[in-house]
Amino acid sequence: MAGLKGRDILSLVELSPREIDLILKRSSIMARRRKVPQQLRTKTVALIFQKPSTRTRVSFETAVAQLGGHPIYLSWNEMQLGRGETVSDTAKVLDRYVNAIMARVFSHDDLVVLAENADAPVVNGLSDKHHPCQILADLLTLIQYKKRLKGLKVAYVGDGNNVCNSLLIGCAKTGVNIAVARPLGYGPDPEAVKRAEEAAETSGSSISIGEDPEEAVKGSDAIYTDTFISMGMEKEKETRLSTFIPRYQVNKTLLTYAKPGAIFLHCLPAHRGDEVTKDVIDGPQSVVWDEAENRLHTAKAVLSLIL
Ligand code: CP
Ligand code: NVA
Repeated sequence: MAGLKGRDILSLVELSPREIDLILKRSSIMARRRKVPQQLRTKTVALIFQKPSTRTRVSFETAVAQLGGHPIYLSWNEMQLGRGETVSDTAKVLDRYVNAIMARVFSHDDLVVLAENADAPVVNGLSDKHHPCQILADLLTLIQYKKRLKGLKVAYVGDGNNVCNSLLIGCAKTGVNIAVARPLGYGPDPEAVKRAEEAAETSGSSISIGEDPEEAVKGSDAIYTDTFISMGMEKEKETRLSTFIPRYQVNKTLLTYAKPGAIFLHCLPAHRGDEVTKDVIDGPQSVVWDEAENRLHTAKAVLSLIL
């Protein structure tokens, strides 16, 4: 293991299973500690957002502050980026000021350009392709509730989006079996599936991608869903809602196919009545608030390891 100091985290693809394990172990320590070592003292972290955010923004700002550093929130449109300054020029300039960059962007390629043009480590706070920080928090939540990862079964029901892509890779790298149910034409990114399948060969995870939600949820330890309309897809709203609802909505009946004691996960923000019913997300099997809290612990772990 090369260590994580100075490393970019653009997706879970670049992290080995041992590195993911290291981040999760550090996250568990962060979750137990009230006070954490001031590892980011004198360090500044730029947080660039091209899209809205609640969890990612606040967890990273808080994480940097709790570690003794200084976060700088930067809205894409309030930077010169919004007036056409290139991503590569922006990266070169920020690199002269800050110690790390976290960015939420539409195009994953912009993250690659940021990383190529800055020595400072770059962390993906969500792109069209991946959401690695979210999935680290989800894996931590699974550990907290199920006491292990290897051999668990996670069912993802809904849109094969950025969250689904990263979940596939995260599960495959950590020995979690994953079954995805999505409508045809709304599957995960083929490259992400390929990477997950490669990782599964080593970890022994099983990966299945089908159309049948009941089949996917059967015998699962956790059921996961996300919005049917990711940021930037608002124009497809009507078509998507009529494609996904009612078949791909996570409701109480679908939950009965899971193991007793299965947990419900959602990266949030949630749309009650669309991808999930109120009785599920606000019900006894839902662990979404712990999952959201874990964004803070994993953000602190990631920052303390890369800086
Ligand atoms: N789950 C997540 O990334 O939430 P935000 O969009 O609020 O950051
Ligand atoms: N798939 C969602 C995740 C939001 C955290 C989106 O991209 O909007």
